[in-house]
Amino acid sequence: MSELEAGSVQLMVTSPPYPMIAMWDELFCKADPKIAELFQKLNAKGEDQTVRAIYNVMHNYLSEVWAETFRVLIDGGIACINIGDATRTINGKFQLYPNHSRITEVCEKIGFTTLPYILWKKPTNKPMYKGKGAFLGSGFLPPNAYVTIDCEFILLFRKGKLRKFPPKDALRYESVFKKIERDEWFSQIWSLKGTRQTVTDLERRTAAYPEEIAHRLIRMFSVKGELVLDPFLGSGTTTKIAIQNERNSIGYETDLNLLPVITKKTENHAKEAIVKIKKREKN
Ligand SMILES: C[S@@+](CC[C@H](N)C(=O)[O-])C[C@H]1O[C@@H](n2cnc3c(N)ncnc32)[C@H](O)[C@@H]1O
Repeated sequence: MSELEAGSVQLMVTSPPYPMIAMWDELFCKADPKIAELFQKLNAKGEDQTVRAIYNVMHNYLSEVWAETFRVLIDGGIACINIGDATRTINGKFQLYPNHSRITEVCEKIGFTTLPYILWKKPTNKPMYKGKGAFLGSGFLPPNAYVTIDCEFILLFRKGKLRKFPPKDALRYESVFKKIERDEWFSQIWSLKGTRQTVTDLERRTAAYPEEIAHRLIRMFSVKGELVLDPFLGSGTTTKIAIQNERNSIGYETDLNLLPVITKKTENHAKEAIVKIKKREKN
C-alpha cells in the first residue's frame, strides 16, 4: 500500500481470503508459488509437517497486509478483521485450523493492541460427523462427532493509544449512534444471516460479507469524513457502506475482473453522498 502515507487512515475493515478453506487454495497458490509446491508435495505424501507449512505460508501472505495496515493507520486507529476458522480433512485426518488465533498472535507481534472481539453467528443446519457434513445415523453416540463451526470472528485491534478529539468536535457529534444501536453493536454476539450470493459466479467467489457488518463497524469506529481502508476489497462492500455513511474509502483488490462489480456497487452511492455532503455544508 505504498500509495498511502504512514498515519493517514482512521479505520481498516476487511475480510481476507481464509487460509485452509478450499475455495481460496487457488488464490493462495497463485499468490505464492511456494504454496502450490507444498500442495503438490502433500498430494504425493500427506505429512503433517507439509500441512503445517501450507498453513504458515498462507498466514505469512496475510501478515504482510496486517503490517502495512499498522503503518498506514493513525495513532488510535482501529483494524477490524472478519475471519473464519477452517476445518479440513487432509489424507484422512480432520482438524481445526484456528485462523483467528494465528492472526491475533501476528497482530500483537506487529504492535497492535488486541481488543475484545465479536462473534458473527450464522444460521446453520449442518452439524458435523467425522469431518463430514452431517451426523447421519450415528448422531447420538459419543465420542466421534465434532462441534459445528457456526461463528466467524470479527477481530478488533487498535494502534497505539485511544484517540483524542477537540471538545464538541462537530463531525464526531454528528456521527453519534443511538442507544439501541450501541446496545446491540457493542454486544459480543451478532446473529446475522450471510449475504445471499446468487448474483453471478464471480460475485459468489468473492464471499462478500453482509453490508450490516460493514455498516456497524464503520459507525462504531470512525467519524464522518474519515478514511476507511479495505485491503481485500472483493466486491466493494466496505467502500459502498463507507460512502453511504459519509466516510471516504480506499480499497485494494488483486482480481481485476471484480472492477465492474465494484464500480456497479459503489458509483450511485458516491453521487448520493456528494449531494448529501453539499447539502450539509450549505446549512
Ligand atoms: C473474502 S474476499 C473479500 C470480500 C469483501 N469483503 C466483499 O464484501 O466483497 C477477499 C478478496 O481479497 C482479494 N485479495 C487476495 N489477495 C489480495 C491482495 N494481496 N491484495 C488485494 N486483494 C487481495 C481476493 O481477490 C478477494 O476478492
